[in-house]
Amino acid sequence: MMYEDWAIHTPEEIRGIAAAADILSRLFGELAPYVVAGMSTMELEERAEAFIRSEGAEPAFKGYRPPFENKTYPYTLCISIDDQVVHGLPAPARILQKGQIVSIDCGVRLAGMHADMAYTFAVGEIPPPLQRLLWVTERALERGIQQAQVGAPLGNIGHAIHTFVKSYTFAVSEQLTGHGVGRAMHMEPEVPNIGKAGKGPRLWENLVIAIEPMVQMGTARVRRGSDGWSVCTYDGKPAAHYEHTIVVEKNGPRVLTSFEPIHKALAHV
Ligand code: MF3
Ligand code: CO
Repeated sequence: MMYEDWAIHTPEEIRGIAAAADILSRLFGELAPYVVAGMSTMELEERAEAFIRSEGAEPAFKGYRPPFENKTYPYTLCISIDDQVVHGLPAPARILQKGQIVSIDCGVRLAGMHADMAYTFAVGEIPPPLQRLLWVTERALERGIQQAQVGAPLGNIGHAIHTFVKSYTFAVSEQLTGHGVGRAMHMEPEVPNIGKAGKGPRLWENLVIAIEPMVQMGTARVRRGSDGWSVCTYDGKPAAHYEHTIVVEKNGPRVLTSFEPIHKALAHV
């Protein structure tokens, strides 16, 4: 896959991406209390769109045709439950249930600049193996972010993510990757979750990328879901997904999106 241009941005553009990322970060705080058993995924969708528009921004996924599809995505959120890895569709009849893991993925556009983020929530209590899957995926994202240094080869990111995930006997798909982001939703470079240390193009100052490990408990293989959009694990085992938009700076990676899991705890009181 080749996107149109590289995600190297001017300081002014980066301020714009950071403003979009701030709205996106606060959106996750707004949604977290509603990620509970009995909630319709369509209600999450509606709340998300209303919040983004109230901030003067636009949902970046809605009406967007991803480069890997021939149709436009109809919603603000991707809501992927259990064995759905990414691109799950909100629907009125898709009601959250206790024990599920629910990835919410969203893009925000503000004054032409995009930010992208995902977080996987637990609905109520989940068994230890699922807790471990969420923990490993979030730590894998941190490991990947640490590798986003000026002058470092891109392959270091995927290498760090993949070796960490494999050490827990979990898997990542080659087909699902992170990407440059900013002036467009998807830009060069593609940011794979698998890589060779020391290989690939070198990261530049002011490169903005979305790093997004999608970690599968069983096989790395995926299949298309029956809804025509979602990507599911081939073996039906669960998957988790965390994503941040970051900028490569001289002093190291700066994370533009953020979400404190305290919100998750508050959702259950
Ligand atoms: N969530 C995907 C990503 O992070 C993009 C989804 S685009 C959509 O790259 F429009 F299909 F939702
Ligand atoms: Co993304």
